[in-house]
Amino acid sequence: MSLVQNDLSDLDFFSSDSVFDKLYPTDIQELAYRHWTPLEVAKKAADFLTQDGKVKILDIGSGVGKFCLAAAHYKPNALYYGVEQRKSLVEHADAVKEKLGLSNVTFMQGNFTKVDFKQYDHFYFYNSFYENLYGTQKIDNSFEYSKELYNYYNIYLVRQLEKMPEGTKLVTFHSQEDDMPRGYHIIGADVENQLNYLVKI
Ligand SMILES: C[S@@+](CC[C@H](N)C(=O)[O-])C[C@H]1O[C@@H](n2cnc3c(N)ncnc32)[C@H](O)[C@@H]1O
Repeated sequence: MSLVQNDLSDLDFFSSDSVFDKLYPTDIQELAYRHWTPLEVAKKAADFLTQDGKVKILDIGSGVGKFCLAAAHYKPNALYYGVEQRKSLVEHADAVKEKLGLSNVTFMQGNFTKVDFKQYDHFYFYNSFYENLYGTQKIDNSFEYSKELYNYYNIYLVRQLEKMPEGTKLVTFHSQEDDMPRGYHIIGADVENQLNYLVKI
């Protein structure tokens, strides 16, 4: 059975978030407001990340793929990769990728700590580790969450980004500035300062 909802063939999926989200089952749609990147944000982020032409962009914690899929639609010249720890979310991402006929997106299942950052040019990060913090809304209860894991992932991410060459771009959405890697400078902000554009200088 297809994971993508049926009878959607006449819709312009990029006309609004609510239409795009219909590509997913209801339980996934209900998580969108808090967990998946809005289309407008994906477009702005992709505009910034793809200024250098055919670059490779990694979404660290790609969920059901909304950032990668929307960015791949808006800026088709770049290559988009998503790494996601939850297998079921990767399956939803792949199903929607197929439905949209996008060939410039690859989803990988696993922990981002297993990814070689050097394979990518630029990065997108939507506060992926926040579920580990007490009192936050969870996608599900499939993991044991802890402040220690939150700190470990953040430190690991910062170290990987610090190893990247000058010119590396990073877009963060709803992420803390004090977690930012050394050498990266915020050169712009949008969406009430929740969307930050950074470059390693
Ligand atoms: C806020 S959602 C963002 C999803 C997607 N980037 C988007 O913008 O639509 C964060 C995602 O990161 C994933 N995640 C959290 N920790 C991870 C880790 N250590 N490795 C891989 N994925 C992780 C979560 O499972 C969740 O799907």
